Amino acid sequence: MNISRAKGTKDIFFDDMKIWQYVEENIKEICIKHNIDQIRTPIFEDTTLFSRSVGDETDIVNKEMYTFLDKGNRSITLRPELTAGVVRAYIENGFSSMLTPIKLWYIGTMYRYEKMQKGRYREFSQFGIEVFGSDSYLADIEVISVAYELFKKLRISDKIALKINSIGCSKCRAKYIDTLKEYLVDKIDNMCDDCKIRYVKNPMRIIDCKQDKCKSAKQNLPMITDYLCDDCSKDFESLKQTLFDVGIEYEIDKTIVRGLDYYNKTVFEFISKDLGLAVGGGGRYDTLVEVLGGTHTPAIGFGLGMDRIILLLKEYELVKNNRNVDIYFIIFDSNIFPKVFKLTNDLRDLGYIIDIDICNRSFNAQLKYASKIKARYICIIGEDELKENLCGLKNMNTSEQIKVDMSAEEIGNILK
Ligand code: HAM
Repeated sequence: MNISRAKGTKDIFFDDMKIWQYVEENIKEICIKHNIDQIRTPIFEDTTLFSRSVGDETDIVNKEMYTFLDKGNRSITLRPELTAGVVRAYIENGFSSMLTPIKLWYIGTMYRYEKMQKGRYREFSQFGIEVFGSDSYLADIEVISVAYELFKKLRISDKIALKINSIGCSKCRAKYIDTLKEYLVDKIDNMCDDCKIRYVKNPMRIIDCKQDKCKSAKQNLPMITDYLCDDCSKDFESLKQTLFDVGIEYEIDKTIVRGLDYYNKTVFEFISKDLGLAVGGGGRYDTLVEVLGGTHTPAIGFGLGMDRIILLLKEYELVKNNRNVDIYFIIFDSNIFPKVFKLTNDLRDLGYIIDIDICNRSFNAQLKYASKIKARYICIIGEDELKENLCGLKNMNTSEQIKVDMSAEEIGNILK
């Protein structure tokens, strides 16, 4: 019996892989230009890391984690998100004693046991950034602008809405939660079972419950933005004004509370306008470093769903395969291979994409292959050509054929 891939996972290859690489290359370039360093953290971590940071009562921790005991009887979890791991690394590696701010980016797979649907997988990837050491709204702007720059570069910025909210600090939130609970006290019995638990453990999560049963009870719900303290309110105003000043369009969405417990103040989501899917989300988590045992360090970050970005690029057919082979080398027998080995690598050093027969195929079969892979040129080399130190170069679009010196520079000049 054949073995299939596990539900919720996928193989990425060929054309799709090229789209992934295209996005990853853009991410890398943008992060370098913003002076953000890359970080890699383990795929599995101590389970407590996630229960303490993401929150015991969240769907992620409660229902979606891949948790198991390893052979040493330790409870291990495949990371369901990456912020917690980066914060752990921040504390464990003493980043707090280094030059501030610390700005980090990552791309990695994560794991959530979720119901499958379009754009929702059990293994998925995120590109994220985490910035430590600034409590200024300017850090919020800089972080949001990295995502915005990426969307612009990928030509999907007009297809994505930035939705922002402020969920306040612990001070203003305490007052708000009392009011929220008071408002819901005579309605909660008719709400869904999850909301009944949320009412006790984390009432703000009731706001983004999608169950029909809960909709009517939430119609005139008091909203946190009306309960912000002076500092949070001032910061939120500055954030909105500066987003406007720098030309980043946004909407205020008072229902954004985020599904992870570590957030405070600014929270935001990037939503695909056509598909209604969240392409990314993030916000401030000024207390998380402390909660996980470090010193007080304000921080903010986001995670973008790579799989969903790729989905959008494919949906709008925004990526062409621009990585065709520049020259396919056709050789008459395997003895020629070592003799052109240096030439092929010299051309690769000049930046060209070079391929060569490795199957001992006939001349005709090699020609057919070169045409199928849409090589721009073929370079034909037999014993005669080798003796003269020449090769036949054929432009596959025009069929024009010339003889040139077997030198990477000469060949490169023709390809330009
Ligand atoms: P999150 O909202 O849970 O936030 O995930 C961020 C993004 O990951 C989502 O908006 C979505 O695009 C993608 N995503 C989530 N689950 C799936 C899935 N099952 N399949 C495909 N894509 C998915 C976080 O994870 C936070 N750690 C983000 C953050 C970083 N906040 C601060 N720093």
